[in-house]
Amino acid sequence: MLKGKNIVLGITGGIAAYKSPAIVSKLRKQGANVKVIMTPSATEFITPLTMQTVSNNVVHITLFDQLKNMDVEHVSLAKWADLILVAPASANTIAKFANGICDNLLTTVLLAGRSKIVFAPAMNTFMLNHPATKKNIETLKGFGVVVLKTKTDILACNEYGDGKMLEPEEIVELVDLELTEKDLCGKRFVITSGPTIEAIDPVRYITNHSSGKMGYALAREAKARGAEVVLISGPTAITPPAVDTFIRVQSTAQMFKAVEEHFANCDVLIKAAAPADYAPLNYSENKIKKTDTEGTDSGFHEIKLKKNPDIAKHFGAIKGTRILVGFAAESTDEITYGLRKLREKNMDFIVVNNITKEGAGFKSDTNIVSIIDKNKNIEHFDTMHKVELAKIIISKVKELL
Ligand code: PMT
Repeated sequence: MLKGKNIVLGITGGIAAYKSPAIVSKLRKQGANVKVIMTPSATEFITPLTMQTVSNNVVHITLFDQLKNMDVEHVSLAKWADLILVAPASANTIAKFANGICDNLLTTVLLAGRSKIVFAPAMNTFMLNHPATKKNIETLKGFGVVVLKTKTDILACNEYGDGKMLEPEEIVELVDLELTEKDLCGKRFVITSGPTIEAIDPVRYITNHSSGKMGYALAREAKARGAEVVLISGPTAITPPAVDTFIRVQSTAQMFKAVEEHFANCDVLIKAAAPADYAPLNYSENKIKKTDTEGTDSGFHEIKLKKNPDIAKHFGAIKGTRILVGFAAESTDEITYGLRKLREKNMDFIVVNNITKEGAGFKSDTNIVSIIDKNKNIEHFDTMHKVELAKIIISKVKELL
């Protein structure tokens, strides 16, 4: 949770410094306060004015600035920070911190720091793979510093290899992870997400509009709070979060089987997926030709459907002490239908969304929901980002564990 957190961003000299403004603006969008320290060589790559503007704060560069108040600058910045992020982190700054050298404001704040420290390295492959850098990174890890991985790509020096800094959104997500209280350690979650698809023939299928955003936000939040997460997802176009086990499925039958494999070991099952309720009775191995129906009827082609298993209902009946959270996608009378599903599927609580409302349900980044518990208590929530809603849902689960 970044809201209200104080973050010092240290920028060192490297071409990846061009990504620093994006890091600051993403941190601030999520409610963090950001103060920037630049090493003198960082100012060769990006101007302090840019960083001052995006952070809405004075940028700190030199160790011996005139004191504006009688605070000792490196100590007050170190005290202020909930987390110090160094991005990009050059081989030089990594080496200095590993060896306790503090010859500029950033390295001095790092040494005086008492909060979490995260380094996002960025450098040439040979520098990264040099035994000196490898040893220095291991030393930092030994200090408890979180050193993020780098990516393999064509680098600024035109060589292909490892050493590219993670993207701003990846760095911000990992910083968020570091600052989130780990209150779900030891708890095992199974979360289903996205649509399922039911093949008619090798070309066509039945599906729905689920994007996976709601389920992925829940999985990300549960993982961030320390839970062990199995995410079972139908086909989606978005990148799944980093979880312990990710299982990609196509059909409702496959989703059922995947849940069955992990159900015995879980404490919580969250059914955010929109599984197809029906599948074609007979799958055609070959593409159904238009000519198959031509001349035999008036242009209609009938497909007989069979009912799929109801995953939530099946596992709700045998859930024992596990927590089951379901969703209901309704277009009318959502509270009445939601209550019925809650009871019939033996859920602990249900999240009801009216998918006809603007900003609710399928595909959108936001949702508008009511949460109904077993005692028929109903809470209504106005339009909110699915990430925010996921935090509320996971906190409700935590209260029941
Ligand atoms: O993925 P997004 O684009 O972010 O959209 C989110 C969402 C709209 C898919 C999500 O908020 C949601 O409402 N998910 C449930 C969709 C659904 O299938 O609703 P339902 O009312 O048909 O089913 C009720 C519950 O039974 C759901 O928890 C569902 O996962 C479960 N179910 C349904 C059918 C089935 N065969 N097996 C099931 O387990």
